[in-house]
Amino acid sequence: MGGENPSDVPPRPPGETPEADSLPDGLLVADADARVIVFNAAAVRITGVAAATALGGDFRDVLPLHDAQGRDWWTCVDPYAGLATRTRHPERSLFLPDGTELLVTAAYRRDGEGRVERFTVALRDAAHRARQERDRADLVSTVAHELRSPLTSVKGFTATLLAKWHRFNDDQKRVMLETVNADADRVTRLITELLDVSRIEAGRLEMRRQVVDLPGAVRRVVAGRVAAGDAAERFRVEEHGALPELWLDPDKIDQILGNLVENAVRHGAGTVTIMVEPDAHKEGAAVSVRDEGEGIPPDAAQRVFRQFWRGPGGNRRAGTGLGLFIVKGLVEAHGGRIVVRRAPGGGAEFRFTVPAGAPDHAV
Ligand SMILES: Nc1ncnc2c1ncn2[C@@H]1O[C@H](COP(=O)(O)OP(=O)(O)OP(=O)(O)O)[C@@H](O)[C@H]1O
Ligand SMILES: [Mg+2]
Repeated sequence: MGGENPSDVPPRPPGETPEADSLPDGLLVADADARVIVFNAAAVRITGVAAATALGGDFRDVLPLHDAQGRDWWTCVDPYAGLATRTRHPERSLFLPDGTELLVTAAYRRDGEGRVERFTVALRDAAHRARQERDRADLVSTVAHELRSPLTSVKGFTATLLAKWHRFNDDQKRVMLETVNADADRVTRLITELLDVSRIEAGRLEMRRQVVDLPGAVRRVVAGRVAAGDAAERFRVEEHGALPELWLDPDKIDQILGNLVENAVRHGAGTVTIMVEPDAHKEGAAVSVRDEGEGIPPDAAQRVFRQFWRGPGGNRRAGTGLGLFIVKGLVEAHGGRIVVRRAPGGGAEFRFTVPAGAPDHAV
């Protein structure tokens, strides 16, 4: 077989394995001599072992795993000397010395004689998985609840109208039908939000980039709110500096702005100021939406972007708690970032940046 020895491949530092580093799961690859040749960024994060320490080391020392009974896992499976017919180990829950639980799968690549050429180990943070599963269970019960309350009201009003049509005057009927109408809108909106959430989670958001006039989009969102009944004096739009040409997805930008402005109106108070400016490096744009209400407590600054987070103490004006999760997903789909902080005069300030982008076919 040409005498070629695959273990001659020199270890590559993590910066040079961008494909592996972009994986959400930890990845360790050992060569024919059990030396670590790939240890990606997620593996560093999950294990706390620096890549420089891991690379070149024996994988058993780099990743000392034991099972729930405290047995050393590598001694149990003996990857390099065990059964030569094994191709993989199915997912197992194993532990690091500090007690961190990991979900571990492993696979072998063997040469013609059955000797191990490559041993690949994938690591997943068990706490993260448990959180995801809990989120999913929460999602089902929250969705069921959110759908049931407007539908209960629709059913109540239509049943009443059908049974006692002649007992109500036109004004009373109108009020009931308006409620039914608003509840139907709520259901539609919730379903649209849920579809967005599932696209974001599956990484299936499709970007349709075109040149977007960002200040124009902000003014349109504000005009829409005013047309729907908000006082025009509540809004102030500021533009600072010259923006570069921005290639963004106009529908998603409208959705981001619409959600942030709606939150500022609904959960905040006072004047809502929307500021559009070039970002710090002048390579993209930054938009801040600021209000003069109570703001977001600093310890909740991360949580606001999670699904179903709706503020402390049963906030009566709260919606489903999906808005900011979706906003974050849409901003990140543009390659941007979003943060929340206290506005200079109190209140919440949500600020997102988006890179200028390029036409779809150019990326
Ligand atoms: N500008 C703001 N000022 C104060 N609190 C805010 C502000 N924006 C958001 N929040 C808090 O963050 C929570 C989550 O916001 P998010 O937009 O995700 O959900 P929501 O507005 O409650 O519902 P949805 O947007 O799905 O209809 C809100 O319920 C509110 O408690
Ligand atoms: Mg909202």
